[in-house]
Amino acid sequence: GFIAGIAAAGRRESASATAPTATIDVLFGTQTGNAEFLAGELVAAARTRGLGGAATALDEVTPDQLAAMSHVLVITSTYGEGELPDNAALFWESLQSDTAPRLEGVRYAVLGLGDRGYDDFCQAAKLIDTRLEQLGAGRLHERVDCDVDFEDPAAEWTTTVMDRLVAETGAKSTDVEVDTAAAPTRSPWNKRNPYRSRLAVNRLLSAPHSAKEIRHYEFDLGDSGITYAAGDALAVVPLNDEELVGALLEHLGATGDEEAARLLRTEREIRTPSKELIAQLAERAPSGELAAVVAQGTRSDLDSWLWGRDVLDLLRTTNPVTAPTLPELLPLLRPLQARQYSISSSPLAHPDRIHLTVASVRYGAGQRRYEGVASTYLADRVGGEDATVGIYVQPNASFGVPQDDDAPMVMIGPGTGIAPFRGFLHERAARGASGRNWLFFGDRNRESDFVYEDELSELRTRGVLTELDLAFSRDQAEKVYVQTRMRERSRELYGWLEDGAHVYVCGDASRMAKDVETALLGVVAEQRGRGDDDAAEYLANLRRAKRYVRDVY
Ligand code: 2AM
Repeated sequence: GFIAGIAAAGRRESASATAPTATIDVLFGTQTGNAEFLAGELVAAARTRGLGGAATALDEVTPDQLAAMSHVLVITSTYGEGELPDNAALFWESLQSDTAPRLEGVRYAVLGLGDRGYDDFCQAAKLIDTRLEQLGAGRLHERVDCDVDFEDPAAEWTTTVMDRLVAETGAKSTDVEVDTAAAPTRSPWNKRNPYRSRLAVNRLLSAPHSAKEIRHYEFDLGDSGITYAAGDALAVVPLNDEELVGALLEHLGATGDEEAARLLRTEREIRTPSKELIAQLAERAPSGELAAVVAQGTRSDLDSWLWGRDVLDLLRTTNPVTAPTLPELLPLLRPLQARQYSISSSPLAHPDRIHLTVASVRYGAGQRRYEGVASTYLADRVGGEDATVGIYVQPNASFGVPQDDDAPMVMIGPGTGIAPFRGFLHERAARGASGRNWLFFGDRNRESDFVYEDELSELRTRGVLTELDLAFSRDQAEKVYVQTRMRERSRELYGWLEDGAHVYVCGDASRMAKDVETALLGVVAEQRGRGDDDAAEYLANLRRAKRYVRDVY
């Protein structure tokens, strides 16, 4: 009793000592939620070291606020072609300005999240890291740029940075028991430990004769305890096509090698050639076509040469004498990645299942037919004895229905960009939310590609979907896109914005999302009649207020 009492008193004491001895600021720039998630973990880790602090989106701090911070940890992903993520763009703009304050009082460290498959790997992190230094801030620790498998390098960076912070601030570790309670609860299901979910539904949504194949999937959550929010993404752990694995092994003369077959099927990226593989093959066949493009061409020459070609194609272009052997090839292939898809259901309507709306990637004809790894895995290869798929939820806290049930929503999602908005509409219907909802949707042809038509018309009838504007691009001679409809309805659209609407865009990032943004700026400029700068500022304010958010890829 007595000893236990002391222990309890001790614990209580250290619990009250969790009042942090120093504070840090964790600033994140996120597009899909990874950086935000890590920022939360970092705050929790800091707390166990006696450091208080909070995670804030980069766009929510001004350079002056930054200048007043003592210890700043920045975690950011990169979006598009080396751009800052949506919730960091305004921060970056103001930090670049000539009037940005000096940051001599700031100690900082940057963690970059990215994908080495892209040219501008971790560009956003590099930019911020360099600019902070230019402004006089002092680096606590070298920047670390993480590839898609970010967990280990991020954990290592966190440990080192925390050690430095503790050393610099003299922070005292606090009671661990208290801290675990304060840490965010983590789902037990993640990349390393995906939940094996039964694929309960695999249904074709587009017409069988459509040029596109869009499918509806439902994943059974069973007793996994998985929860999700409308707007989150679901990561799917795919398996490669056995036939393609077989063709590769045959080319390498290694057909009997079962371990290699398993490895190629479950652990390696065998569709998209890695930069390392391209470089190696160019080196091994210096007089070949690939070597010529690598040596003389521009980046876009190489991209167009590579377009549509997979690992097997590249291997076939090389001379068998100089071609890599299987053991040489394996390290040149990247780890097979989970693929993320925007969830198309709402937990309020479907607590026991997660729905996805996915276009199957298939192209090519004749001797080579090419297939997207995960989309065709789901479409064609899950079933039989083991009809389960490895999944985990990737939360996206910044993409969801407005907290205010009365706020109007404008959703722009052509093609499979409709996915999260189906979830949003289900969510609002289940909540009995009174806010108006407007969907801009489109695809190639109405007759074959109008997915969820019945559901959408029912939502219209029930009054959940207030406005539905459709843009079928190939039903007439001239192209009609969602942004065409937005421009046609300029006055009403601006009216909704003025009424406090939240604007969401989902789908293709390379062209659609940019064109939609241009259209939105055009609508605002036209309706306000105060020029382009005023329109840009109007949109920037929407973004700051988190009323213009995108889930684009
Ligand atoms: P298209 O293929 O006929 O050009 C979904 O893929 C829909 O998005 C299709 O109707 C496609 O039209 C359309 N689309 C293509 N480019 C677009 C862009 N830049 N902006 C908006 N929609 C686009």
